[in-house]
Amino acid sequence: MASKIQFSSKIGLVAATVGSAIGLGNVWRFPAETQGNGGAAFLLLYMGCVLLLGIPVMLAEFAIGRAGRSDAIGSFRVLSPRRPWWVIGIFAVLASYLITIFYMVVEGWTLEYLVEGLIGGLYDGIPSDAAMSEALFDSKMVELTQTPFKPALYTALVILLNIGVLLGGVQKGIERLSNVLMPLLFVILVVLCAVSLSLPGAADGVRFFLEPDFSKLSPQVFVNALGQAFFSLSLGMGILITYASYYPASTKLPRTALIVSLLSLLVAVLMGLIIFPAVKTFGLDNNTLEGTTLVFVTLPEVFSRLPFPQLWSTLFFSLLLVAALTSTVSISEVAIATLQDRLKWSRRRSVLTGLLPLLVLSLVCSLSFSTLSDIVVAGYNIFGMLDNVTTNYMLPLVAIATCLYAGWFMPRGCLRDELCNYGSLRSHVTGITTLILRYVAPLLILMIFVYNFI
Ligand code: PHE
Repeated sequence: MASKIQFSSKIGLVAATVGSAIGLGNVWRFPAETQGNGGAAFLLLYMGCVLLLGIPVMLAEFAIGRAGRSDAIGSFRVLSPRRPWWVIGIFAVLASYLITIFYMVVEGWTLEYLVEGLIGGLYDGIPSDAAMSEALFDSKMVELTQTPFKPALYTALVILLNIGVLLGGVQKGIERLSNVLMPLLFVILVVLCAVSLSLPGAADGVRFFLEPDFSKLSPQVFVNALGQAFFSLSLGMGILITYASYYPASTKLPRTALIVSLLSLLVAVLMGLIIFPAVKTFGLDNNTLEGTTLVFVTLPEVFSRLPFPQLWSTLFFSLLLVAALTSTVSISEVAIATLQDRLKWSRRRSVLTGLLPLLVLSLVCSLSFSTLSDIVVAGYNIFGMLDNVTTNYMLPLVAIATCLYAGWFMPRGCLRDELCNYGSLRSHVTGITTLILRYVAPLLILMIFVYNFI
């Protein structure tokens, strides 16, 4: 399929893939998980999971995508035409679409906080009394995320922003955006890190983050670390299969997987170095750093106690918006590529048909915090249900099936050929990757699944 579009440069494809991997998973899920699971002990486990399991599974997705040169469903069909493996692709596309629905809502909140911090009243009338300022930011979060109108408006805006980027296509849309935004993301991270590390309580925060407390380790902590590693590397969502189908034949997959994983780890560690010193300094470490409150209550409170709150707020929410935008662009591309390749639709038609329904679906999801808050099943509102079903059940299942396929059932030699670029690279990772894909990864991911059930 010579006509298949490709990324135009090595830097561009790495930037796009790193942009997908770095998202809310690193920025808000990682610090929350670290705090809840014993600080550095969790960090070490997470690193182990990324390096030993995440990279092989990433390589499997890369190999399937580049060998199949098609969308997440089509790649399986190209590689195993008479077998039903493409069902894995259907689940991946479905899971990714469901994730997009709620992820856009959070991206909308992020844009809203960015704007409110800059020109709205987010930092107006902050009382000097600490207890009152927490109550104030709590009530601002309710106002900015759990009322019907404004959050929905911002969600619609970010969906339109995504549509705009994606209409530009793989090279002029996704690649160009990533080339500009990824360096920006790292610059902001380093600036915020420097500020946080210069605060008076920094040493305590760093100690909590980097001194392991192994007494906290348990099977549950391991399950959480593995889940975090998979989510933050964008595994099991069809994203990496789709992106790898745009990789040129000369791209070195093992090296790309290593770079993407290490950069994603680096961002998680830098986030830890930003958040823990800041919350320790202001004594906010008793708050549970649960994702939403960490980002939308605790951090604005930290900014409000620093000189120039608006400056730090703008930097941080820009960072979060960049991280989220490059992730939603990648995850939306899964559905768009599927429409383009399966139905032979034009790019424009695929983007509009794929993303315009989100204006309604994400609106419903946004309203699950206000108008539709009565719809609750098993303790979850619509947003929580989508999050739970996808991250706890669908993603692990897709990941297990992908490992088994790449380890056992892909056409003979295909994995090796992709990993060593048809013999032009030495393939010392093929053996270990196959071993992990066949036995280790499916068993361990199954553990996550079982743990979530009981
Ligand atoms: N790695 C991404 C993140 O951490 C996972 C993701 C990608 C989620 C795309 C949603 C959309 O946020």
